[in-house]
Amino acid sequence: MGNKLFIKNASELVTCAGTLPKTGREMNEIGIIKDGALIIEHDTIAAVGTTLELSQSYDVQEMTVIDAAGKCVLPGFIDAHTHFVFAGDRSEEFSWRLKGMHYIDIMERGGGIMNTVRATRKADAAALMELGRTRLNSMLAMGVTTVEGKSGYGLDLGTEIKQLAVMQELQQTHSIEIIPTFLGAHAIPPEYKGRGDEFIDYLITEVLPPVAEKKLAVFCDVFCEKGVFSVEESRKLLLAAQNLGIRGKIHADEIVQLGGAELAAEVGAISAEHLLHISDQGIERMAETKTVGVLLPATAFSLREPFAPARKMIDAGVPVALATDFNPGSCYTSSVPLIIALAALSMNMSPAEIITALTANAAFAVGAGDRIGSIEPGKQADIVILEEPSHIFLPYRVGMNLVETVVKKGRVVWQSSGKMPCEKDLG
Ligand code: NIG
Ligand code: FE
Repeated sequence: MGNKLFIKNASELVTCAGTLPKTGREMNEIGIIKDGALIIEHDTIAAVGTTLELSQSYDVQEMTVIDAAGKCVLPGFIDAHTHFVFAGDRSEEFSWRLKGMHYIDIMERGGGIMNTVRATRKADAAALMELGRTRLNSMLAMGVTTVEGKSGYGLDLGTEIKQLAVMQELQQTHSIEIIPTFLGAHAIPPEYKGRGDEFIDYLITEVLPPVAEKKLAVFCDVFCEKGVFSVEESRKLLLAAQNLGIRGKIHADEIVQLGGAELAAEVGAISAEHLLHISDQGIERMAETKTVGVLLPATAFSLREPFAPARKMIDAGVPVALATDFNPGSCYTSSVPLIIALAALSMNMSPAEIITALTANAAFAVGAGDRIGSIEPGKQADIVILEEPSHIFLPYRVGMNLVETVVKKGRVVWQSSGKMPCEKDLG
């Protein structure tokens, strides 16, 4: 066997090739090749075509083969918005929310994000690493090959750096690729109660510079929300981050319409995320600037809030991505199948648009569209093989994990097959 991998006979090979980010009708063009195949050399995709074309043009005899007959082959999924490094849980708050208490009321009473901040400040790096690793394992099993991870459960220099350093360390030891985002402006800590503006100044002068210097974050995010950080404070922080070479992202218009989408377009943020309450003007501005709308349907579902207007945004030309928002408060799930089901059945996105939103546009939203997010020669070999013949089965089989094999950088890193302990040994 050589060091080349030949994946052949795919009922459907979905390439997601094309210029990024994809908008409007382009989101439906996912480049399906029937009886598709690809050749991987080391960690890179070397060729893509039909099985016949590739078998005729390459010496495939020497290659390791994966037969994908009856299966659908896709680019690895990219979860472009998560908060996966934290300690503790908020199950008690969840039970209060089930009884009707609002997420923001819990936050204003000192629970919410601060609850997780207290637990994360106390946890040591080794404990956070173990928690992070377990969470990455379950993401990988659902076909996630790259994940964006936000800090924001420290809100002080030491803990923010601890969270980011844990992500950097996990990056060395886990096959999932991690894109770290600095979210120091996630809440106002009690030390700065009523002085959000001073907290922003603290982040700008004391925390951002070492984060930038140690190259611990690719993006800087802010929770731009009524009662948290205003548009002015968010603008100030994002411009300061940009001066240090760290591009912006915004938790925008999640609970209240505040103008976060417009701000994202104004400052040249790569994305605005959530957007449940985006204004028409925000949609227009994001379409003009091609700012990605990272939509998080499981959060709307879990908070019992309305879904982001995905249809309106796509039709207006906003590039849309989908992500889980995995976090212990508003959305404690990293389930890609749930995201797919909600996007199809509650947001009216087509199966093809959903695939684009979880691959090509998600790659663009994490600043990695040149490397990942599609199956094209020269791109990193991050591949998912489904147990069904077409991508349409993803929303059709509501909430089911259809991922059979995951390839990261040319290496098979996860497979669903293998004898289950529930089977009787008849041998
Ligand atoms: O994306 N809105 C702010 N941040 C997270 C929630 C974090 C938490 O509740 O711990 C979100 O919904
Ligand atoms: Fe979030």
